[in-house]
Amino acid sequence: MRPDPPSEPPEGAKDEADFGFKRVPAGDKPALVRTLFDGVASRYDIMNDLMSAGIHRLWKTALVDGLAPRPGLTLVDVAGGTGDITFRVHDRIKGAVAPGRITVLDLSLEMIEHGRMRAWDRGTLEGIDWLVADAEALPLGARVADAYTNAFGIRNVTHTERALEEAYRVLKPGGRFLCLEFSPRVRPILSRAYDAYSFRVLPLLGELVQGDRESYSYLAESIRRFPEPARFAEMIAAAGFARVKVRLLSGGIAALFSAWRL
Ligand SMILES: C[S@@+](CC[C@H](N)C(=O)[O-])C[C@H]1O[C@@H](n2cnc3c(N)ncnc32)[C@H](O)[C@@H]1O
Repeated sequence: MRPDPPSEPPEGAKDEADFGFKRVPAGDKPALVRTLFDGVASRYDIMNDLMSAGIHRLWKTALVDGLAPRPGLTLVDVAGGTGDITFRVHDRIKGAVAPGRITVLDLSLEMIEHGRMRAWDRGTLEGIDWLVADAEALPLGARVADAYTNAFGIRNVTHTERALEEAYRVLKPGGRFLCLEFSPRVRPILSRAYDAYSFRVLPLLGELVQGDRESYSYLAESIRRFPEPARFAEMIAAAGFARVKVRLLSGGIAALFSAWRL
């Protein structure tokens, strides 16, 4: 039912990266990821609701609750896509005398453009900057942000460690790191149904709603390729963060990571 992922990459294959279950030259991966998200951007929000039966909204609210945004916050929302995290944070700090500033960064111009259109539709035009940028090379100075968020973006980057180092670099001492990501393994009782859903239903939904089966196969495959939560927590700590915490959500389908830059 669940296609076997290829075995771990051989030692020395450092110039390659996972793209779902495929191995691709590392230098090619950003363009592949960008093309994929450019392609799904127009239906991204509706697909999120369909694929998760709306549950992604609860996970994102859990992230924003964990952040507990205060007026004056400087937030960097990396892989921010069409702005789901940004708008939730903005809604909590708007109206304050000095509400703060949010910079949304994403590799995909189309995702950013859709985010901007949503901002326009919502009348949320103040306090948000939208930038096309790679999580591995943020066009920001060191120690500029109070908080860094990344929801479901980190598994798509080419070098996870570099993205974590960038998160650390841009945060001020005392800054907060929050990351949501799918977990490759769910509770055993859920795993058969989850595999069937991921590898059969998701690609079919992608084909029906978007005429694109491949991008949704990539979604299922990239989740299976991402490190287990305990391992990813170690990577966060290795980037320099302190007090790393993991909270499994919905039977381990997703995980919320939090940490501090001291
Ligand atoms: C699944 S979407 C999540 C979007 C949004 N954070 C949300 O939760 O709805 C993943 C996003 O990560 C972006 N992304 C992938 N690789 C990236 C990278 N290296 N740097 C910045 N963004 C990246 C994609 O373009 C896409 O918009």
